[in-house]
Amino acid sequence: MEIRITSLENIREAARQFIAAMEENTVFAFYGKMGAGKTTFVKAVCEELGVTDVINSPTFAIVNEYRADESGELIYHFDFYRIKRLEEVYDMGYEDYFYSGALCFIEWPELIEEVLPEEAVRVTIEELEDGSRLIRL
Ligand SMILES: Nc1ncnc2c1ncn2[C@@H]1O[C@H](COP(=O)(O)OP(=O)(O)O)[C@@H](O)[C@H]1O
Ligand SMILES: [Mg+2]
Repeated sequence: MEIRITSLENIREAARQFIAAMEENTVFAFYGKMGAGKTTFVKAVCEELGVTDVINSPTFAIVNEYRADESGELIYHFDFYRIKRLEEVYDMGYEDYFYSGALCFIEWPELIEEVLPEEAVRVTIEELEDGSRLIRL
């Protein structure tokens, strides 16, 4: 399926469409260039899921943990951009997250492809010429 974000003004609507398409899946891998809008979209999805913590780009942490207020549900947001060796991913205990049943949103999954669960949903984000974003899953 495709979701178009024409401007930041309708990102919440796009996030709702994404959530409706998530079904029972829990691990989502977001592929896209630097600046494509991965962090921004994950943040919008988390907000739509009821997370009210201030969500920053997890630039300096591999994993950020959020909690949805009402459900208490945990959401993990990964940024593997700085990973240099797969060993770092083993050391952080990636399995405890990916197979926890909690929602996992992953940026830069190409750097951990070898340990990405088979059932992970591949999502691509692309910036089009007019500045809008096209999400495919
Ligand atoms: N849907 C969007 N429409 C317009 N601008 C966006 C959109 N998504 C992200 N941006 C802008 O693009 C820049 C990079 O976004 P970011 O989410 O950090 O990208 P990534 O995580 O893919 O590197 C930010 O300045 C952000 O405000
Ligand atoms: Mg990012």
